[in-house]
This record gives sequence, C-alpha cells and structure tokens, in this order.
Amino acid sequence: MKILIIVPVLLFFACTQQPQEKIDGEWIKGTKQEKIHTIEKQFRGFDNTMVEIGYRYQELYWAGKDENWDYATYQIEKMKLTIENGLERRPKRAKSADHFLKSVLPEMLKSVQQRDTVIFNENFDMLTANCINCHSMEKVPYFTVKKPIYRQSPIRK
Ligand code: HEC
Repeated sequence: MKILIIVPVLLFFACTQQPQEKIDGEWIKGTKQEKIHTIEKQFRGFDNTMVEIGYRYQELYWAGKDENWDYATYQIEKMKLTIENGLERRPKRAKSADHFLKSVLPEMLKSVQQRDTVIFNENFDMLTANCINCHSMEKVPYFTVKKPIYRQSPIRK
C-alpha cells in the first residue's frame, strides 16, 4: 500500500527538481544577472528620454501652428509617458521632474483643449522656460532650448 503513495510523491519531486533550462538570446547571454544588466544598459538612461522629448516638443510646436489639437494632445500625453518611463530608469531625476509633470504638462494640455492659438503660444513659451529650468537644475544648462525654426515633420495639415 505504501508504495502507492511513495511512487507518486517521488515522481512529483523528480518533476519539480529538473534543472532549469538556460535561455540565451543571440546577444543577450550570461547569468541571469548579466542578462538583466545587458537589457537595462540597452534601454539607456535619461538621454534617450530627452531625445524623444526633443522630438515631441517640436511636433507639439508644429501641431499648434497647424491647429491640429488632437495631434497636440497626443504629443503632450506621450511626453508625460516618456518622462515617467525615464524616471523609472533614473529615479534621481524625479525631484526636478516633479513640477514639469504635475503642473507644466497639465497646463499645456488645458491650453490645447481651449483650441486657441494665442493661449497655446503663451503656454508653449512657459513650457520652453521649464525645459530650460530643469536643465539648469540637473546641471546641464548647455542644453539651451529654443522654439523650432524649421519643420522636419512629415505630419502636416
Ligand atoms: C527632469 C528634468 C528635465 C526636463 C523637464 C527636461 N529635460 Fe531635457 N535633459 C535633462 C537632462 C538631465 C539631460 C541630459 C541627459 C543625460 O545626460 O543623460 C537633458 C538633455 C536634453 C536633450 C539632449 C538629448 C541628447 O542626448 O541629445 C534635449 C534635446 C532635451 N533635453 C530637450 C528637452 C526639452 C525640449 C524639454 C522640455 C519640453 C526638456 N528637455 C525637459 C533633463 C530634463
């Protein structure tokens, strides 16, 4: 009778104790720790965030010129997401980003909802001043932000 119990129990352990399959990618290899390190390194830090913000800032500007308010709304929302994701990677930037996330972007969104170019332009200046402000707080004041002059975007009205 005992054997009837022992055999399934042994079988259960035999199954759970199997050595784990080692999974490597084409270039993401090594121990689990090394693999996580490689992935994190490839995601990059705040520079990547800012390259995207620089792009979205320009798109927002031209969206305002076109009075393409839906596209402007989209860009503001993506700016928020971009910064939030960036802070997940670089939490030490969170303090400087606080005002930008909680006040500057929501204000910008409100101005877009009013669908008024004059209000939009005023707020875009306020946005630009806050980009510069954060660069100063983060000790990279040489990233001087000015409104775009030339349009590169293929998204036009
Ligand atoms: C939370 C603070 C913060 C805010 C807000 C911010 N920046 Fe930045 N920005 C930085 C930091 C920090 C760097 C340098 C990144 C690094 O050294 O990794 C940077 C760098 C940049 C760069 C250079 C990126 C590169 O590697 O080529 C651009 C472009 C840029 N910012 C544009 C903007 C614009 C436009 C705004 C406003 C819409 C803005 N930033 C708002 C902190 C900020």
